Amino acid sequence: MFTRNPAGLAALLTFVLSAAMVFAQAPNLGKPVSPAEIAAWDINVLPDGSGLPPGSGTPADGARIYTAKCSACHGPEGKGGPSARLVGGEPVKNMSSEKTIAGFWPYSTTLFDYIRRAMPWQQPRSLTNEEVYALTAYILSQNQLIGERDAMNAQTLPKVRMPNRDGFIVRFPDRTP
Ligand code: HEC
Repeated sequence: MFTRNPAGLAALLTFVLSAAMVFAQAPNLGKPVSPAEIAAWDINVLPDGSGLPPGSGTPADGARIYTAKCSACHGPEGKGGPSARLVGGEPVKNMSSEKTIAGFWPYSTTLFDYIRRAMPWQQPRSLTNEEVYALTAYILSQNQLIGERDAMNAQTLPKVRMPNRDGFIVRFPDRTP
């Protein structure tokens, strides 16, 4: 057909060549992401405490923040309200047991990670690292897992051993660091 229609062939070639040039380039969407922007999203804290930021907080500091920002949902002193209790609870026995922080959670560092990324419910990521350390210290202290004056920071928090630390079966023990 193009032998009988050179104009059509030229048009097709022009289209194919310009399309190839367009696709050879990046789509030019978005913008480069700076290391500072990545750091703001990179907030994982691992069980061994890696990823914990600088800062420190005591149970007494945490108690004040708790009353202002948490007690409406988790109840006075963390014993439960419209949302889960953060203090108390029996050790888990089976799948239907209540899964509390003291009775179920295997790692203390998860508390820091969870509060920092998710709480308060209506305003996640609004707390400073100091406030998160203080709230973590308050909740651990109310659960009698640390002393009333123990400050939590990147060094002390990973050393807090949770009661259910050995309650999980590791599926691939040889891959666990
Ligand atoms: C507006 C309500 C609300 C407020 C305020 C709030 N939370 Fe929560 N929180 C929740 C809900 C909902 C959950 C999910 C678990 C549940 O269903 O109770 C939760 C879960 C948690 C958990 C995990 C509990 C578990 O055993 O799984 C922690 C820890 C926690 N919140 C800490 C805090 C802290 C600390 C504050 C204050 C900075 C706070 N929350 C403020 C609603 C709230």
